[in-house]
Amino acid sequence: MTESQASNFTPRVFSGAQPSGNMHLGNYLGAFRNWVKLQDQFDECLYCVVDMHAITVWQNPSDLRDQIREAAAAYIASGVNPEKSILFNQSQVSGHAELAWVFNCVARLGWLNRMTQFKDKAGKNREKATTGLYVYPNLMAADILLYKGTHVPVGEDQKQHLELTRDIASSFNENYEAEVFPLTEPLIQAEGARIMSLRDGTKKMSKSDPSDLSRINLTDDVDAISKKVRKAKTDADAIPSEVDGLEGRPEAKNLLGIYAALSDKSLADVCQQFGGQGFGDFKKDFADLATSHLAPITTEMARLMENPDHVDDVLRKGAERARAIAEPVMNEVKDVIGFLR
Ligand code: AMP
Ligand code: TRP
Repeated sequence: MTESQASNFTPRVFSGAQPSGNMHLGNYLGAFRNWVKLQDQFDECLYCVVDMHAITVWQNPSDLRDQIREAAAAYIASGVNPEKSILFNQSQVSGHAELAWVFNCVARLGWLNRMTQFKDKAGKNREKATTGLYVYPNLMAADILLYKGTHVPVGEDQKQHLELTRDIASSFNENYEAEVFPLTEPLIQAEGARIMSLRDGTKKMSKSDPSDLSRINLTDDVDAISKKVRKAKTDADAIPSEVDGLEGRPEAKNLLGIYAALSDKSLADVCQQFGGQGFGDFKKDFADLATSHLAPITTEMARLMENPDHVDDVLRKGAERARAIAEPVMNEVKDVIGFLR
């Protein structure tokens, strides 16, 4: 975004995660932790539980309800303050679906065909994928632009979707000769942007990995975390004292990278600290660090999950505040397009 474009829009942070269960350490280090930091840097932050994105693949209705609450609880337990930030649930603000339809009529098949996440998620059985999964990035653009979001913190994996969001915004602005939408800036952190599976250092830590040993869930207790760290895949070599020595050792690099992110150190410092040691001792330190960092989050999440009415109330209030920002934007869009209202 050029400076002049940026200055026309109120700085506003938007981000979201899908309530598809198993919130994990990758979500925390790649997303929630940064959301919390941004609350102090920006006046307006919106953090959304994107349930409409979740149903692009099948979700059992009663599980979905719990997962939405669990996602909201994970945001709050990680430090998102629902008094300051707007914490809400996507399907409770109808503007997301309305604007997504408009963007279905802006984005081109050619653009969507390039989206690597669709290819990964649809797999070989593309004929069976829902059309929602295909236009998922248009809904994501609508999430952000419904609030004229200027800054979006995400993990590395969402970069391509944010480029599409910018293409949609500039195409809309150009087609209608109106400067309605900002060109959103991605905010991607260096440490923690891509946390890998504990079982396979070449695969992303993910909610949908069938092996629970592959990830540390935000609901795992001390015993579960210790066991997963003990079983985490490593290699037979010692820890190198320089980052270069991690070349071609994805599992080693991942564990040291997670340690760096959790302790707010650089990867180089962590290599220096543990260089020459085997992974046995390191894993003990690692488990202690992960446990002490995550225990307060786990405890607070459990407390919130025992009080679903409170969580529902937070989400309802958040949706009300979100609607107040979204409504004038949607009206502006309708006027520009030529819809009556
Ligand atoms: P998802 O779990 O795909 O809904 O993602 C929610 C947020 O967490 C997004 O900002 C992702 O980029 C981030 N995220 C998910 N998995 C990881 C991971 N393994 N490493 C870092 N960030 C992640
Ligand atoms: N697609 C994102 C993910 O899977 C979730 C998401 C939906 C999102 N809408 C968003 C993230 C808007 C940032 C901004 O991680």
